[in-house]
Amino acid sequence: LANVDLENERTLAIVKPDGISGNYTSSIRKVILESGFSIQREVTVQLNEDSVRSFYAEHSTKSFFPNLVKYMTSGPVLIMVLQKVSAIADWRALIGPTDARKAKITHPDSIRAMCGQDLERNCVHGSDSRESASREISFFFTDTFSEGTTLKHDEL
Ligand code: TYD
Ligand code: MG
Repeated sequence: LANVDLENERTLAIVKPDGISGNYTSSIRKVILESGFSIQREVTVQLNEDSVRSFYAEHSTKSFFPNLVKYMTSGPVLIMVLQKVSAIADWRALIGPTDARKAKITHPDSIRAMCGQDLERNCVHGSDSRESASREISFFFTDTFSEGTTLKHDEL
């Protein structure tokens, strides 16, 4: 019984600039809560280029990287820490495939099918593993969850 909480996971979700400008935030929040996640942290910020480059460092050598940086800095984003049992896999399943155009065909009920446009502009982010989730959450937030919402950086 003491270990009953062990399977609770946290994952990092981002509503990307097209999600915000397309007014999908409340629909996305509704899906999140109806799917049993609790929203532990949320903050809306305008990311700068250095933050995006660092957040997506694993993709820095890819040809799409410059466009990704442009897209992610094109307007404010909503960053959330979501918690539930199997949060990481379940959030990835809810958002659907990376290519939103394909998602509309193969996963029509997914969040990317709902609000994404294509492979580049796919409306939402989700951590892909425990390692990524831990890195991404501490990228944006102080890693102690005992106090109120605290952004790690003054300016992102
Ligand atoms: P990736 O981590 O592969 O996808 P996901 O967001 O599903 O984990 O890629 C990160 C982001 O980079 C992706 O959400 C959109 C962008 N991207 C492109 O613009 N072109 C591409 O070919 C790929 C693979 C990703
Ligand atoms: Mg990824």
